[in-house]
Amino acid sequence: MNFPSADLSGKTALVTGGSKGIGFGMACALAHAGADIVIVSRNLAEGEKAAQEIRNMGRKAMAISCDVTIPAAVNAMVEKALATFGKIDILLNNAGMNIRKPVVEVTEEDWDKVLDTNLKGIFLVAQRVGKEMIKQQSGKVINVASILGVIGLPWLASYAASKGGIVQLTKVLALEWAQYNINVNCIAPAYIRTPMTEGWLSDQVRLQSILSNTPLGRLGTVEDLAGPVVFLASDWSNYITGHTLLVDGGWTAR
Ligand SMILES: NC(=O)c1ccc[n+]([C@@H]2O[C@H](COP(=O)([O-])OP(=O)(O)OC[C@H]3O[C@@H](n4cnc5c(N)ncnc54)[C@H](OP(=O)(O)O)[C@@H]3O)[C@@H](O)[C@H]2O)c1
Repeated sequence: MNFPSADLSGKTALVTGGSKGIGFGMACALAHAGADIVIVSRNLAEGEKAAQEIRNMGRKAMAISCDVTIPAAVNAMVEKALATFGKIDILLNNAGMNIRKPVVEVTEEDWDKVLDTNLKGIFLVAQRVGKEMIKQQSGKVINVASILGVIGLPWLASYAASKGGIVQLTKVLALEWAQYNINVNCIAPAYIRTPMTEGWLSDQVRLQSILSNTPLGRLGTVEDLAGPVVFLASDWSNYITGHTLLVDGGWTAR
């Protein structure tokens, strides 16, 4: 038997939304497994801080400021990453945001902001990095969706639409790029405390309702995503593509 390795030494991982929250946690997990890291966020100071923490782990890391909703900015960001690292082996397409409102209060601006960031941004970065991976004839793309990609909840119309779109986009990218030895998969977490959710989760009634929907009886942690992301970035997942891996404490099994 010839088992693969989860060692990512010598690989470069580009992590959008890597400056904080889930993206930063998963960037640390990839660095722990040996990868060098490109942190992408709009706020450069926060990106630099995250990159420094990765360098403190003994890996190479750089931060690039980029708004993933703007094609020219995405192109410039990828060029910059390639100029430093020469290649991108792993794309962790994680940047995202949320606006919670009842459907009748959602404005066109709200809708566009969420869909542009969560779905168009994922598409633009995947398309640009995919061109490099096709040239390399290898790559691992990991898109970050949510349980809202497979279930619905009130007040989350634009968010659920965007995350469902990511689940479907993942399948199409996987089918088109399988011939180039590129795996495209999706991680769909349930609730995890981050700058995006801490305000929402501070309401005790809401928190209890979330916990009662979670068979494992607790919120997820960023560490809970470390195994799934390293698995999907490594040779252990070479025969898996187009898949959405729910990391949800059993929520969607109900
Ligand atoms: N936390 C949860 O419970 C949870 C559950 C399921 C799925 N998720 C998903 O996980 C991902 C990360 O969520 P999080 O909770 O870690 O959020 P977060 O703490 O708010 O972090 C969001 C990250 O995305 C970046 N970002 C946002 N808009 C961007 C843009 N237009 N261009 C480039 N970067 C952008 C932010 O940096 P800048 O603001 O500096 O750009 C930041 O680095 C999202 O896709 C989210 O939907 C989260």
